[in-house]
Amino acid sequence: MMLNTHIIGLGAYLPERILSNVELSTMVETSDEWIRERTGIKQRHIIAKAQHTSDLAVAAAQQALDDAGISIDDIDALVVATTTPDMIFPSTASIVQYKLGGKGFPAWDIQAVCSGFVYALAQVDGMMKSGMFKRVLLIGAESMSRIVDWTDRNTCVLFGDGSGAVVLEAKDKNIQGGMVGSVLHCDGSYRHLLMAEHQYNGNAPGEMSDFRVDAAGVAAIEMKGNEVFRVAVTKLGEVVGEVLDKYHLKQSDVDWLVPHQANIRILKSTAKKMKMTEDRMVVTVGEHANTSSASVPLALHHLYKQNKLEVGQLLLLEAFAGGFAWGANLVRWSKS
Ligand code: UT7
Repeated sequence: MMLNTHIIGLGAYLPERILSNVELSTMVETSDEWIRERTGIKQRHIIAKAQHTSDLAVAAAQQALDDAGISIDDIDALVVATTTPDMIFPSTASIVQYKLGGKGFPAWDIQAVCSGFVYALAQVDGMMKSGMFKRVLLIGAESMSRIVDWTDRNTCVLFGDGSGAVVLEAKDKNIQGGMVGSVLHCDGSYRHLLMAEHQYNGNAPGEMSDFRVDAAGVAAIEMKGNEVFRVAVTKLGEVVGEVLDKYHLKQSDVDWLVPHQANIRILKSTAKKMKMTEDRMVVTVGEHANTSSASVPLALHHLYKQNKLEVGQLLLLEAFAGGFAWGANLVRWSKS
């Protein structure tokens, strides 16, 4: 039997603590006005001291399972896209599996920074179409606040924490909708423009406040913002055209653009390139900031919760990340 991959459940989680631009401007030399104008960000959610990335992942995953009307026992594989794992090893996916009460089925992490969810969806889709798994729990979860240098105004205003999850199910290809396909890219010659060079220490206790971590041994994001911006705009403009061409679809076939949420100006530029009105594009960057691999599933969940999705609609998911790694997925909505 030929198979296709369908989204049958969605979930999301944002930590309670909100850090506004105004509060941030008491920590570094910035202003609400600058951040809003240059990025569209108004606030970000920050993980609690006692929480780990796996806790954020579990909350979104449980919601996605409930939404699909199934339990962890019905899952055949679990994948977590994350850049901020609880530990170097074991994988955050194995910790999430344990915390959800699952056992036995494979679980692994994917690291493609902000493109993690788009990469993971492409990978899992291929595996499911081949018949390897019937139901997969796919999560994007990040605690970016733990790898941000809270004294660097160039980067600390941009990121936030959160998680989003989907349950995927392989169904007969004759059933309408499901995954259309994906394209992925990476160009490591850009690796130095956006990176966190040092060893990550996700368990470091927050010494300075409820979210800042002790600086010693902790990774910090370094970014040449305007160079990243320039390449992101170009590559995203290309990749949306490429994925549509690959599957013989047109810009006008796309009902919803579900972009990675890094900067409102990048989002608008992609929408313009696709000749889409902005009301067909999901924008959560104002409330969530850049949540890396959680950003696309959080945006998708936001759209879902607004009851705007209709069976048969075409969704274009896209992301651009450190690496640089970027990509896009096309999904024909099939969840009623
Ligand atoms: O997830 C995927 C990867 N990330 C991205 O896609 C992010 C891509 N980059 C961006 O979104 C933008 O480049 C930024 C929002 C990071 C920066 O915006 P920009 O318009 O490219 O500004 P810039 O870096 O060229 O800096 C302009 C000025 C500089 O001052 P001078 O040198 O002109 O005096 C910065 O020092 O703005 C200054 N600046 C700030 N001022 C107030 C930088 N950060 C801040 C800040 N508050 N937080």
